[in-house]
Amino acid sequence: MQKQTVQFSYQVFASLDALSISDQALFAKAQEALVLAHAPYSKFNVGAAAILENGEIIKGSNQENASYPIGICAERVLLSTASTLQSKVPIITMAITYHNERGGNNIPIAPCGMCRQAIAEYESIVNKSMRLILGGATGEVYVIEKAADLLPFGFSGVHLQ
Ligand code: THU
Repeated sequence: MQKQTVQFSYQVFASLDALSISDQALFAKAQEALVLAHAPYSKFNVGAAAILENGEIIKGSNQENASYPIGICAERVLLSTASTLQSKVPIITMAITYHNERGGNNIPIAPCGMCRQAIAEYESIVNKSMRLILGGATGEVYVIEKAADLLPFGFSGVHLQ
């Protein structure tokens, strides 16, 4: 028997102000995307913004539905937009933030499991790791260099061969 360990490191910034100017600018775009969310059921708006390899910035926000399971997360809206508009151009960094009407809003959120799977597939298609910036309205901000680190033992197309 062998014991294996999976671990990854991420950066913790005390606040948004501690980020580089370019990361702050991208995060501000994710905050802009919050108003585009359609989240009347959860009252939990999520905004995402990504800078593409060609320098363009695209946004995504969560889109819910009265038939709840139909809703789609901000991250996957953004990935679909990237795929549709930009034909799978690599994403350098994605910033993700949220506004919870119930309050809080001071701890980072990370992509849900389904979004981690979608992000990992996107990274694999474009053959480039995606950086993530995660933060709320206030509080600490996390920076993760490779989004795929969030999905150890992920299922991929390799397993379908
Ligand atoms: N949501 C996202 O858009 N991204 C995440 O990473 C987590 C959750 C959305 C889904 C749903 O519309 C609302 O947040 C509450 O779960």
